[in-house]
Amino acid sequence: MSLLPILETPDPLLRRISTPVEQVTDELRALIDDMFETMYAAPGIGLAAVQVGVPKRILVIDLQEPEEEEGPPVRRPLVFINPEILSESEELQVYNEGCLSLPEMYAEVERPAKVRARWLDRDGALHEEDLDGMLAICLQHEMDHLEGILFIDHLSRLKRDMILKKLAKQKKLAA
Ligand code: NI
Repeated sequence: MSLLPILETPDPLLRRISTPVEQVTDELRALIDDMFETMYAAPGIGLAAVQVGVPKRILVIDLQEPEEEEGPPVRRPLVFINPEILSESEELQVYNEGCLSLPEMYAEVERPAKVRARWLDRDGALHEEDLDGMLAICLQHEMDHLEGILFIDHLSRLKRDMILKKLAKQKKLAA
């Protein structure tokens, strides 16, 4: 396994539409393992393949939530290949989102609170489930990446420009 470099805004590849996976191969599973390692190291809770430069419809998610309130975080790695949203609730939820491709930037984004989703796992098995809470938020955020959409695209132009300016400043300081 190896750590992969994570693309950051304004890398134009982040705006590419990812293509469907035709067959879940061992090569793809090796990429998935690298994506998990990269995501845990970042650290983050979700990563789309396009964020490591591979514009294919593959997501990894692990919310790393504790079993009980005060407990240590528990790893529950989830793989979503060719994910689709079949239906979504009218009810919305707001969460202060961040993204590994926009380091240290956060903003409140409103999304459907519940979604019914369909996807393939790392063995190519089909799943269809109702998701809510943090997993619904995270899946919708990661699925946006497959369409070249970033969380800042859900904000007003003013807020988006503020974040992009801050990001540019941060990069200048780091250079
Ligand atoms: Ni993201």
